[in-house]
Amino acid sequence: METNVKKEVYEKLLIEIEALISNEFPLISNLSNITSVLKEKFQWWWVGFYIVEDGKMFLGPFQGPLACMSIPYGKGVCGKAWKEKETLIVPDVTKFPGHIACSSLSRSEIVVPILDENNEVKFVLDIDSRYLSTFDDIDAYYLKKIANMINNLCKIIK
Ligand code: SME
Repeated sequence: METNVKKEVYEKLLIEIEALISNEFPLISNLSNITSVLKEKFQWWWVGFYIVEDGKMFLGPFQGPLACMSIPYGKGVCGKAWKEKETLIVPDVTKFPGHIACSSLSRSEIVVPILDENNEVKFVLDIDSRYLSTFDDIDAYYLKKIANMINNLCKIIK
């Protein structure tokens, strides 16, 4: 997708997500709808959250083919993003040591961690594409904004 078009799509998407999320509903419902709008908008292969609970990372709401139920700390792209608390862009998953291939059709990936007020990772947002080099700094920039929205929602949701 051309850079300016992508920025425009994300700008609209931020407004859409802002309107969609609500503290009147459980977090899991909000996260579920966020995966849906992201997947629909960009036609990515897989969009989902992994949830960190009691030191373990489990599959959360997602859209796409079935996926690994848990990911060990430091392992794969998600486990590494959890450990390093950093967004990871992987242009070619075959070149990422220890990549966990939930689907053999996934070729590139971005993982954005969502941290709580104690600077601990609560969730990661994992997005996979069927094409190489799908994700860049623009995706990281806007997906981090979405991560911040989720973070703010966590603070006010029951
Ligand atoms: N590829 C990820 C695992 C999750 S699936 O892509 C849905 C990883 O290496 O962490």
